[in-house]
Amino acid sequence: MKDYNGLLAPAEGKLGILLPGMGAVATTLIAGVLAVRKGEGQPIGSLTQMGKIRTADGNQLIKDFVPLASLDDVEFGGWDVYEDNVYEASLKAEVLGYKTLQPVRAELEALKPMKAAFDPHYVKNLDGTHVKQFTTKLDLAEQVIADIRNFKAERECSRLVMVWCGSTEIYHEPSETHRTLAAFEEGLRTSAANIAPSMIYAYAALKEGVPFVNGAPNLTVDVPALLELAALTNTPVAGKDFKTGQTLMKTILAPGLSARALGVRGWFSTNILGNRDGLVLDDPDNFKTKEVSKLSVLDSVFHPEENPELYGDMYHKVRINYYPPAGDNKESWDNIDIFGWLNYPMQIKIDFLCRDSILAAPLVLDLALFSDLAKRAGMSGVQEWLSFYLKSPQTTDPAVRPEHDIFKQLVTLHNTLRDFMGVSRVETSNLEQYQDEPVA
Ligand SMILES: NC(=O)c1ccc[n+]([C@@H]2O[C@H](COP(=O)([O-])OP(=O)(O)OC[C@H]3O[C@@H](n4cnc5c(N)ncnc54)[C@H](O)[C@@H]3O)[C@@H](O)[C@H]2O)c1
Repeated sequence: MKDYNGLLAPAEGKLGILLPGMGAVATTLIAGVLAVRKGEGQPIGSLTQMGKIRTADGNQLIKDFVPLASLDDVEFGGWDVYEDNVYEASLKAEVLGYKTLQPVRAELEALKPMKAAFDPHYVKNLDGTHVKQFTTKLDLAEQVIADIRNFKAERECSRLVMVWCGSTEIYHEPSETHRTLAAFEEGLRTSAANIAPSMIYAYAALKEGVPFVNGAPNLTVDVPALLELAALTNTPVAGKDFKTGQTLMKTILAPGLSARALGVRGWFSTNILGNRDGLVLDDPDNFKTKEVSKLSVLDSVFHPEENPELYGDMYHKVRINYYPPAGDNKESWDNIDIFGWLNYPMQIKIDFLCRDSILAAPLVLDLALFSDLAKRAGMSGVQEWLSFYLKSPQTTDPAVRPEHDIFKQLVTLHNTLRDFMGVSRVETSNLEQYQDEPVA
């Protein structure tokens, strides 16, 4: 157990949460936090606000157990390729209703996105014009760094975190430019084509020692060059892709089937989604990034190589369909072909009428507050304990397959919080013997 007690700096002063991409998820987060502050709603779905942890003194609210930034001390800022203020963007996103938005309208109107670091090559279906002009990509990164510094000074923040809530960029593989920090910085100077906008934000944040979390499946910070920079500036990172909706259901259900040694022959997931995220994902190159992320989850739960009779022939298919009338209210269907005793087949059908951004907003809040906690605890690099929130978690050792079982991920998260506070941890290997007490 690593002992952080005594190293953990208190959450003094204001925390700035910087959001590249101020669309449905970001605006739902901001309006939600402002509404909660006014007592106009409850932060449901957020572990930092409502979750409990078992301690020697019984179950305790996580926010009473570890020193987190208070919602009253949070400031929001961000960038977007559209210049709508956060109120206008919330109306367009059509996630929150009039009754939620009106009490916080003035504060939302005052929040205007900064000009984006953007490249239409990476997001083909957007045509925003609220973008920075630049000579080289290094110049672009320096402009983002200047934005970060100005925001910190103007809002009088003592600490910052950055969570990418921008669109999913096209699929690309790591290359020579991403292998070392020196190669990456040379790539910035020469405006290498394979440096995506999300990498520019990540570079700027890490240069400034600002924790960076990637909420989309883009490559972004999942490359050696940026991990090198994170180590150099002692900065935590986490990614990728918020675990909401269909994948959340998958990582809840699959561990149960595996626990009962029930076989799975096929898992077909499809959904209809009509928001801007759905529009971006309608492009095959952008969908490919999402598909890779969504497909990765089942193998690490089922371990087909160890259980070939149960999961060796499983067919896993994921589709996303852009269907504008659905808006942010995604409908997702799963057909799961399972088999039991003597190979007799059965089927499970899931029809989940979810609200994507309602599920994602509390994740952004938790990831922001926990990354700030990690920074104050002196942690740097990939924060595997935040895998709980992510579809494609990064691991400290890229050769190690990430854990996707949400229950194991939760135990790891709780144990890390115990480490921070110098309280004895319960090994995840003893999971069978370990159960959190029912929450009072
Ligand atoms: N909502 C969910 O449940 C969920 C789950 C997992 C991942 N995500 C990911 O989170 C991200 C945000 O989702 P959303 O529903 O808010 O999408 P959205 O389309 O409503 O918002 C994304 C915003 O990013 C902006 N943008 C794109 N490129 C940018 C850049 N380079 N700089 C600044 N702004 C940029 C777009 O203009 C848009 O306003 C998407 O990548 C999505 O795939 C969402």
